[in-house]
Amino acid sequence: MRIVVLTGAGISAESGVPTFRDADGLWEGHRVEDVATPQAYDLKPTTVHRFYDARRSALLQVEPNQAHHALARLEESCGDQLLVVTQNIDDLHERAGSSRVLHMHGELNSALCRGCRQRSRWTSDLVDHPPCPRCGVSELRPDVVWFGEIPYEMDRIHDALLRADLFVSIGTAGAVYPAAGFVQAAASYGARTLELNLQPSEGTDYFSEARHGPAGELVPAWVESLLSR
Ligand code: APR
Repeated sequence: MRIVVLTGAGISAESGVPTFRDADGLWEGHRVEDVATPQAYDLKPTTVHRFYDARRSALLQVEPNQAHHALARLEESCGDQLLVVTQNIDDLHERAGSSRVLHMHGELNSALCRGCRQRSRWTSDLVDHPPCPRCGVSELRPDVVWFGEIPYEMDRIHDALLRADLFVSIGTAGAVYPAAGFVQAAASYGARTLELNLQPSEGTDYFSEARHGPAGELVPAWVESLLSR
C-alpha cells in the first residue's frame, strides 16, 4: 500500500512549536504578511531575519513527539511505500528518524542565496549577512517558501498523490494551497483519505474519514493499527 502523509503545524504543537493560526490570528506576535512574504523581506529584512533566526535557535529547545516517532516507525516498516510531505519548516520528522520527507515550504536549517539561487544547510543566524558558502555573495535569506512563492517538490508530490492508495493529513488547518488541495487530488486519483487533526479542518468534508484529537494520541494509534494488520 502506497501512503502519502501530509503534515502541518499541528503535528509539532505538542513538541512546543507554535502553530500559525492561533486564536489571535498572529504568528508568534507577528502578522503573517509582516514576516512571511517577499515584500516584507524587501521592506524590513532585519525584522524578518530576526524572526527566523529566533525560530531556528528555538528548534534546539524542542524534541520530536509521539506523532513524529510513530511516522518514523511506519517508515521502518513501509520503506519507500511511505512519503511524508510536510508544510513544516522544523526538523522534527528527521530527528525522529524519518528520511523520506519532502519540505514543501522549505526548512529553517537551510539558507537560500539570492545571488546564485543555491540552497545551503544553515544552522546559525542570518541577520548579520554572512556570505553564501557557494558564491561568496552576502545575499542569504531564509530558505522558507513565503506567500506568493512556489512550494518545493511539487512534481514529486503530484506523482506520489497520483500513485497513493492512502492519503493522510495530520495537523493542518487546510487553509493554505496548494497543500489544502492534496486531499481532493488524491481522492480523484483513487486514494482513500483520512484526516487526523485536533478539530475539523477547512477541508474536512473532502476526507473519506476524519478523527479529531491531539496528534500525539491519534497518530500512534493509527500507525499501530496499520502495523498490526
Ligand atoms: N494535534 C493535532 N492537530 C493540532 C494540534 C495537535 N496537538 N494542535 C493544533 N492542531 C491543528 C489545529 O487545529 C489546526 O487545524 O493543527 C492545525 C494547524 O493549523 P495552522 O496553524 O494553520 O498550520 P498549517 O495548516 O500547517 O499551516 C499551513 O500556512 O502560514 C502558512 O506556510 C505556513 O506551512 C504553513 C501553512
